Parts: sequence; structure tokens; C-alpha cells
Amino acid sequence: MHQIKLTTPSGNTEISVGENLSAGLKTLVPTPVLLVDEHVLCEHQDSFDSFQSISIPSGERYKNMHTVENIYRELVNLEIDRSSMIVGVGGGLATDVAGFVASTYLRGISFGFISSTLLGQVDASIGGKNGVNLDGYKNIIGNIRQPSFVWCDLSLLKTLARKEYISGIAEVIKYGAIWDVEFLKYIKDHMTGLLNLDLKVLEHVVTVSAQIKVEVVQKDERESDLRRILNFGHTIGHAIEREKKVMHGQAVSVGMVMAAQLSHNLGLLPASDVDIIQNLLKAAGLPFELELDPEVIFQNIRKDKKKSGEHIHFVLLDGLGKTLIKSISLSELKPMIDDLC
Ligand code: GLY
Repeated sequence: MHQIKLTTPSGNTEISVGENLSAGLKTLVPTPVLLVDEHVLCEHQDSFDSFQSISIPSGERYKNMHTVENIYRELVNLEIDRSSMIVGVGGGLATDVAGFVASTYLRGISFGFISSTLLGQVDASIGGKNGVNLDGYKNIIGNIRQPSFVWCDLSLLKTLARKEYISGIAEVIKYGAIWDVEFLKYIKDHMTGLLNLDLKVLEHVVTVSAQIKVEVVQKDERESDLRRILNFGHTIGHAIEREKKVMHGQAVSVGMVMAAQLSHNLGLLPASDVDIIQNLLKAAGLPFELELDPEVIFQNIRKDKKKSGEHIHFVLLDGLGKTLIKSISLSELKPMIDDLC
């Protein structure tokens, strides 16, 4: 098992990466109330049956204030007070909702996460972003509060749908592309092991990804500067996700190729490095192109919450493993999107 500590002004998190971590729930004091993704609850009944639990409906369309309100009511009915602890169990959607509920119910009670998807383990469960969507705008309501622990239980990945697992690999490749060329090479050399859920490979990949995220978040918890680099591929990726209804990682994969291509067009990244990223995504079974309507993509980007005024903080690659955040005006961006689509 590997452990990583995240220390920020809003709280500290102990992150653990290993097998069968969920068994540790029995030793938690106080006895937790679980907020569990409904599918995870079905698949792993044995692990979570003996606890008080509230299920979180699966699916992006349920990630809203209505679901949050229902959970508040259940917590009231269960007479959960400030001495209790909430544990969110599931992928990014469940932990985002559980973190938001826990950090607002009774003005915030202590909470932790058991992350059950690759995407959750390497990204969503780490860094304290909690929240829900409103009217199709992703994560537009939320806060930043750190869970006291995150358990990346690798055993839970075995029951994950294949497409969902591969979606998580996009975020893993992102870390290599923005931060660590050695890691990018490791992913390339161990792609077969990663695709086969080889435990040693998985443990390394999840641990290094979590370490990179921790390093970034510790330097800029509130995303005023450096943390923006974690959005590499996401500006276009989120716009694709709205339009195409593809999974997050698949949309981000196409978004990363387009952001890399834009970096190349702006003279920052050699074409051979764009190929390296594209080939790695392809080897993982991720899409690297889609038929896109440039006008729809542009309009979706306009609505993105990361837009500040008339500008977008666009994350570019200034060589592999290095980023450059460029403030691009919407009028400059329009022809770029036309060109990329
Ligand atoms: N998923 C990006 C972040 O946590 O900042």
C-alpha cells in the first residue's frame, strides 16, 4: 500500500492506494454513514451492507441540488449529527456529491472517500472540489473542502465497466503530458499491463497520478493559477461532452489531441510530440478525433464556467511535460476552433 499526504489551507487528506482497502471501514471511529453510488452498492453489497447507507443515483443527470436535498433529508431522518462521519463511496460523481453534502450539512461534518473508479482515484476524489451541476452547467455549484482521507481501492476497479476504466486512462495520460515525461514513457511501456489491470502497474500509475495531483493542488488549491493545468484537454473536452454525450475521459482524450494540435499550430510543440500523445491515447483505446460542429463546440466553450470575462484560460503544452496557460479572447478562439474541427 502507498500513502500520500495532501496538505492545504482548507484541510489535510491522507490518500491510500492499495487492494481491499474498503475492509478498513469497520475500524473507522465514529462509525460512518455511507453515501454510496447505487451501482457500487449493488456490486459490492458484502462490503457495505453492515453500515448505515444512503444511495446516490448514478448518472450525470442526477448530479444536482435535487439529489443533494434528498440526501440532506435522509441524513436528518437518520439523526446524523456533527459527531458523525460521512464516507462517500463511488466514482467522481458520487464523491463530488458526497463531499458537497458532507461539507454543507450542519455547516460541514467530517468526511472521507472510498474511490471506486480509475478516474475518481487519479483525479476527482483528490483535491477537495465538491459540487453539482445546474441546468447542464457542470459543477457550477460547489466548494473546496478536503476530505480527511481518500482510499483508492484497486480491488474495486475489477468490476468497473471497460469503457469507464479506459475513460480514466485519459486522465492518467494527461498527467504525463502536462507534468512528467518519464511517467508518459512508463505508461507507454506498460500499456498492456495497465489495460489488463496488472496490480503492480495499476498501483504505480494511480500512486504517481495522485502524487502529481497533490503536488499541483498543494501549490494552488483554489485554482488561481497552477491548478488550471489540470484542465488540459478539458476546455474542448467539456464542450464535446455536452454535445456528443460521450464519457468524460473519451471527450478529454479528443480535447487533449486538439489542445496539443493547437500548441503545435502556435509553435510550442513539435508535431512528433502531438503524435506521441495521440498514439498513446490510441493504444489505450481512447478516441483521438470526432466529427464536431465547430459552432456548437465554440458556443459550449463560451458557456464554460472557466471563462473569465471574454477570455478563456487555455492550457497548452510548451513541450512534453510542460504547460503554458494562455489567456485567449473568444474572438481569437473562434477561428482556432474552426481550424481544429
Ligand atoms: N479535475 C481538476 C481539478 O481537480 O482541478
